[in-house]
Amino acid sequence: MLNLPPYLPGPMEGIMHPAWIRAAGYWELAEHWITPFFRLSAELPQQRLLRAFLTPFSFSKKPITVQLMGTDPGLLAEAAAAFIELGAAGIDFNFGCPSRRVVSGNAGGGALKNPQWMRKILATTRRMLPTAIPVSAKIRTGWHSPEEMDRIIPEILSDGAVSFLTVHFRTVTEQYQPVPGRERRWARAIQLAAGIPVVLNGDLATVSELQQFPLQLGAAGAMAARGFLRDPWLLRRAAAKSAPDPETGRQHFFETVIAEAETEGGLFAGRAIELSNFLWGKANPYFEALKHCHHAVTLQELPSLKASDQEYSAPHAAH
Ligand SMILES: Cc1cc2nc3c(=O)[nH]c(=O)nc-3n(C[C@H](O)[C@H](O)[C@H](O)COP(=O)(O)O)c2cc1C
Repeated sequence: MLNLPPYLPGPMEGIMHPAWIRAAGYWELAEHWITPFFRLSAELPQQRLLRAFLTPFSFSKKPITVQLMGTDPGLLAEAAAAFIELGAAGIDFNFGCPSRRVVSGNAGGGALKNPQWMRKILATTRRMLPTAIPVSAKIRTGWHSPEEMDRIIPEILSDGAVSFLTVHFRTVTEQYQPVPGRERRWARAIQLAAGIPVVLNGDLATVSELQQFPLQLGAAGAMAARGFLRDPWLLRRAAAKSAPDPETGRQHFFETVIAEAETEGGLFAGRAIELSNFLWGKANPYFEALKHCHHAVTLQELPSLKASDQEYSAPHAAH
């Protein structure tokens, strides 16, 4: 049964590593997870690999929708069934990733060039799963032009296989560039979805935007990816749940990721730099010390890595 909360974290492959996911679970930063894509190409991986993919998300005890990526409808449906057996609450398909490596094989955003094939993927998985399990799709508005969604959305919804649609307003070729007409594109997507719930996505990074646009446009919800990375309590604040101020939240989250990573040998400096950059931007209180750090960072040494207020006074203005 579809029971989506109004605010969802965007899946982020490469960034949502196990310690990050467990830290987010610890603080209950999301009510429902959509995992980063699990790519299927040749054959169904062993069950222990599927389980390992799910385990860090299970820590939060919130529903987990597993996102799949691939082009083989049968293989994707098999993987979907296996993940549901392991406890996933739903299956989502990635039809939006713009990475060259991915689209060159017609996966991710590459699929938008062939809506009939997307429909086949969705219908094959739909048939394989119990009716109560939602199947969803995360799309961009087209490959090259947002006008393509006029063809794509009706096509992929025509079988009734899709429970909800997440729409990132950009096209694949627009990558992450600033483009005008975001709200117009979302409004068109909602119109084309004709009653199927739509989750809005793209550049939503403040509480007021997250709250405003779904109401204004009649969407089922809103998804924040990069905004959630920068402000981990963003979705809780949008949902009027208890939350620290953004700066305290960043500090708590950074420490918790490092603490969680200690169970698996620590968070390597490269990962810690990446995390601090996402949280605070490049001008951040840990950057200088972490640059010279060549080992896994421990919670104990964290205070010694933080620049003093005199050395570091840049607010979170970089974003
Ligand atoms: C590093 C990174 C990894 C991402 N990985 C995924 C992914 O695995 N699956 C997916 O559907 N979208 C992925 N996305 C796209 C985001 O979920 C989201 O659609 C996009 O960033 C736009 O939303 P935002 O402006 O809130 O960041 C990724 C984005 C980033 C920046």
